[in-house]
Amino acid sequence: MRKTSEENIFGYLQKHLSPKRFEHSYNVAKFAAELAKAHGADILKAQTAGLLHDCAKFKTDKQLISFCEKRKIMSKYFDGIKKYSPQLLHSYAGAAIAKEKLGITDKDILNAVRNHTLGRENMSLLEKIIFVSDAVSFDRKSAESSKIRKLAFTHFEKAFLKVIAKKIQYVLDGGKWLCPQAIDTRNYYVI
Ligand SMILES: [Fe+2]
Ligand SMILES: [Fe+2]
Repeated sequence: MRKTSEENIFGYLQKHLSPKRFEHSYNVAKFAAELAKAHGADILKAQTAGLLHDCAKFKTDKQLISFCEKRKIMSKYFDGIKKYSPQLLHSYAGAAIAKEKLGITDKDILNAVRNHTLGRENMSLLEKIIFVSDAVSFDRKSAESSKIRKLAFTHFEKAFLKVIAKKIQYVLDGGKWLCPQAIDTRNYYVI
């Protein structure tokens, strides 16, 4: 059986991620643990999922596509993602790496990694915590992020909705392709 130790995860991340990305992952883990503590989620799972969430971020577009195709990792909008925004696949690939390379078997952790970018219907508290933490971790310096960070302790669901909106707005502002999965997620939680 593969080791699932923290040391193993740190080793993998240090080997594959840039120092900046590593620092971001550490910050996401730290904030996710704080939110887990505040809202009664599993702190260790939050830390682990936070550390792992971007573990596939070092892969190129081409590598991500072939990695996901090889494993038949298919999201509903795979064709569009592949064509217009392959980096979105890093969350799906990340869950596969966590399972295959690091021996993570906990479904909630794997789902939190898998859905940290686009979200989905019916997310668990842990999934939402990682989704929020990724968007407003301590390395996100904007005033808006800092506001949402505070809100996440007092009104977590409101903070979660704000993160969904912030992510969609970011894509719109950049004039980029908006994945319909992000809209599905948004609609599921606002209607
Ligand atoms: Fe990510
Ligand atoms: Fe991230």
